[in-house]
Amino acid sequence: MSLIGKRVLLIIGGGIAAYKALELIREIAKRGGAVRCILTRAGAEFVTPLSVGSLSGEKVFTDLFSLTDEAEMGHIELSRSADIVVVAPATADLMAKMAHGLANDLASTSLLATDKQVLVAPAMNVRMWQHAATQRNLATLQQDGVTVIGPNDGVMACGEYGPGRMAEPSVIADAIETTLGSGSQPLHGRHILVTSGPTHEPIDPVRYIANRSSGKQGHAIAVAAARAGAQVTLVSGPVAIPDPVGVTTVHVETAAEMLAAVERSLPADIAVFCAAVADWRVEAQSVDKLKKTETGPPALALTPNPDILSTIAHRTTDRPALVIGFAAETTHVLDYARSKLDSKGCDLIIANDVGGDSGVMGGDLNTVHLVSKTGVDSWPRLSKAEVAERLVADFAVRLDAGSRK
Ligand code: C5P
Repeated sequence: MSLIGKRVLLIIGGGIAAYKALELIREIAKRGGAVRCILTRAGAEFVTPLSVGSLSGEKVFTDLFSLTDEAEMGHIELSRSADIVVVAPATADLMAKMAHGLANDLASTSLLATDKQVLVAPAMNVRMWQHAATQRNLATLQQDGVTVIGPNDGVMACGEYGPGRMAEPSVIADAIETTLGSGSQPLHGRHILVTSGPTHEPIDPVRYIANRSSGKQGHAIAVAAARAGAQVTLVSGPVAIPDPVGVTTVHVETAAEMLAAVERSLPADIAVFCAAVADWRVEAQSVDKLKKTETGPPALALTPNPDILSTIAHRTTDRPALVIGFAAETTHVLDYARSKLDSKGCDLIIANDVGGDSGVMGGDLNTVHLVSKTGVDSWPRLSKAEVAERLVADFAVRLDAGSRK
């Protein structure tokens, strides 16, 4: 319940994803926020003012030139009485209007008149999203300070595959919370560093060695830390999920690049090493593509990568007060975690069983054990978002306890 007392003006554009706007209204309400909606003419082709009004519990605004509406609440006041303005789904047309400052209906007029932060969650056909005009408009909106959430990759209602699906309502609600800085802020004023995703170690210009990692858990921790008020730097290997809102994301490819980015991001109060870093890289990366030959496959000489977690945990200057590692194991999970705690020199290991049918790799659920010098705390199976939320709350307590010593 961290949107208590907050007012959201939600502009629902015309697209198949408009039905998800209904879920977003419920999500905001569930978190204690109030939602007032503007439904565009096209939006009303997909969801009715009645369903929007029933869920939001407020009058739904649809027409700029309604005298009663203007008498009750002018569009200027409508756009300013909210704490934040959210456009979901943001169609290509709405984005174009915003980028060019057009104001010919209630939605676009309110967007031009507002003095509040604007969040947009685009949703459209892949080609419309990738069109140079939309990408230009996107860049303009970002330059103007608009926060863009998504879109996600996936199968579209039109049958095509690619970016264009609207971000999930819970993710948009998280972004609203982060932007408004609402909820409890136990990490306010702290800098949190998180690594996430795999690393790619090139063999030649087209091939690489990698680990399986979706980046979902690491990214969720970055989001949760930002919501807890922290300034967050996320150092991410190549992943297929979008950069979180309200977080500084640094993109890297190799372990060496990840270490350099982490070192550049210090000092930090907490460093969470969630990335699945490749243990080895190819000693001599080939400049040209290796060819198949009759003498069989090439022998690849491997050399160890730097251990980023251990390097940072053993620093004598600028060591974060709390250094946290992950241990993904398929057997003897707790034993390996305990020995890793020692060998890596970190303060806490989050151990998880990724064996066989656990479904943790790439999935949305996780079962973790917090292993520290003082013992083990095992949690039930939870969503990765919930694990992140609880971990961040736990880190804040440990950080406070440490600074009181
Ligand atoms: O040794 P292992 O890879 O099992 O340790 C896992 C932990 O160490 C994770 O927190 C991972 O992010 C971190 N790690 C690292 N650099 C490496 C290897 C692992 O930071 N080269």
